[in-house]
Amino acid sequence: MGTQGLGITFLTLPLVVRAATGGQWCYDSQDPSCGPSHWKELQATCGGEKQSPVNIDRRRLQRDSGLGDILFEGYDLAPPGKWRLTNDGHTVMLSLMSELASEHLTISGGGLPGRYRALQLHFHWGSLVGNGSEHTLDGHQLPMELHIVHMNVKYQTLAEAKPHPDGLAVLGCFFQVSEAPNANYNTIVAGLRNISSAGQSVDLASTFRLQTLLPSQLSGYYRYQGSLTTPDCSQAVTWTIFEEPVEIGREQLRAFVSTLHFPADGPQLLTMTNNFRPPQPLGGRKVFASRAATASGGPPSRGCCELLSPLLLLVLLGPFSPHP
Ligand SMILES: *[C@@H]1O[C@H](CO)[C@@H](O)[C@H](O)[C@H]1NC(C)=O
Ligand SMILES: *[C@@H]1O[C@H](CO)[C@@H](O)[C@H](O)[C@H]1NC(C)=O
Ligand SMILES: [Zn+2]
Repeated sequence: MGTQGLGITFLTLPLVVRAATGGQWCYDSQDPSCGPSHWKELQATCGGEKQSPVNIDRRRLQRDSGLGDILFEGYDLAPPGKWRLTNDGHTVMLSLMSELASEHLTISGGGLPGRYRALQLHFHWGSLVGNGSEHTLDGHQLPMELHIVHMNVKYQTLAEAKPHPDGLAVLGCFFQVSEAPNANYNTIVAGLRNISSAGQSVDLASTFRLQTLLPSQLSGYYRYQGSLTTPDCSQAVTWTIFEEPVEIGREQLRAFVSTLHFPADGPQLLTMTNNFRPPQPLGGRKVFASRAATASGGPPSRGCCELLSPLLLLVLLGPFSPHP
C-alpha cells in the first residue's frame, strides 16, 4: 500500500467500505450516499421497469372483474411452534417459517397465478413527524405499511423463485392511526423493545391468527405486477394492496418509530426511521381494482352524477325556475 499506482483504488474504496457496513444498501435516513437512489448502482434490477412501490392513482384504476376473493388458508389458526421477530437492520421482520406451520399458511385465487406460501412479514414506517408507507394513495403517503411475503409453492427457494414474474406474492396493508391500541398488534409491539439493536431476535410469547393483522374487509384490493422494494429488487412480485387500512394505536406506532435502531456506523446509534423506498415509475403498467373494490377509477365517478341529476332536475323544474 502507499504506492502511487494504487491511487485510483483508494478513490473507489470508501464507497465499498461504507456500503459494506450498512449491509450494502440503506435508506436516506441512514446515509443518503447508499439510499434508494443509489440502489441501482449496487443492483441493476433496482433500475428496472417494473419496480415497486408505486403510487396508486385511484382515478386511473382499471376494474378487473376476474379479481375475486383471495382464498386464505391457515390464516384463521394460531399455528403451533414459535414465531421469531428480528431486527434485520432494515426493518422488523416476523419469520413465519416454523417447520410445522408454513405449509398451511397459503394464499391462492383472487387472480393470483398460483398458490403461495407465507415466508415472512415486515413493516415500513416513517418518523415521529412523517408518514412512512411505501405505496402511496393518490399521491399521499400513509403512516405505515405491512408486507406479508409469499413464495409460489412450485418453487423451493427464494433464489429459484426470484427470476420468475410469478415467483412471489406480497400482501400490503396500509395503517391509519387510532387513539385506542389495536390489541391484535400487542404481541408484535411487545417484542420490539427486545430487538432494539440490529441483528437481535426474540421468540414471540405466542403465535396468533395471521388474519387478525389484516383489515376486516379483504375483498377490496388493488393489484399490479412489480418488485421487491429492497435490493435486489427482483421483479417477481404480484402485489395485492388492500383498500381498507388497518388501525394502529398512536402509541403502538410510536413504538415502531422510536424503539429500533439501524446497524451502528461507529459509536452513534441511529433510530430506525423512514425505512421506505419512494414510489417508482409505473411506466406501461396498470393498477387493477378488484371486483369488490370501492374505488373503480375511470371517468367521473357515478356518485357525483347520480347526485347531480336530481339537483339539476330540481333547478329546472323547481320553485326557482319560471313555470310556464
Ligand atoms: C399521513 O397520513 C394521514 C392518514 O392517516 C393523512 O391524513 C395525512 O395527509 C398523511 N400525511 C401526508 C404528508 O401524506
Ligand atoms: C424482553 O425484554 C424484557 C425487558 O425489557 C424482559 O423482561 C424479557 O424477558 C425479554 N423477553 C425475552 C424473550 O427476551
Ligand atoms: Zn416491504
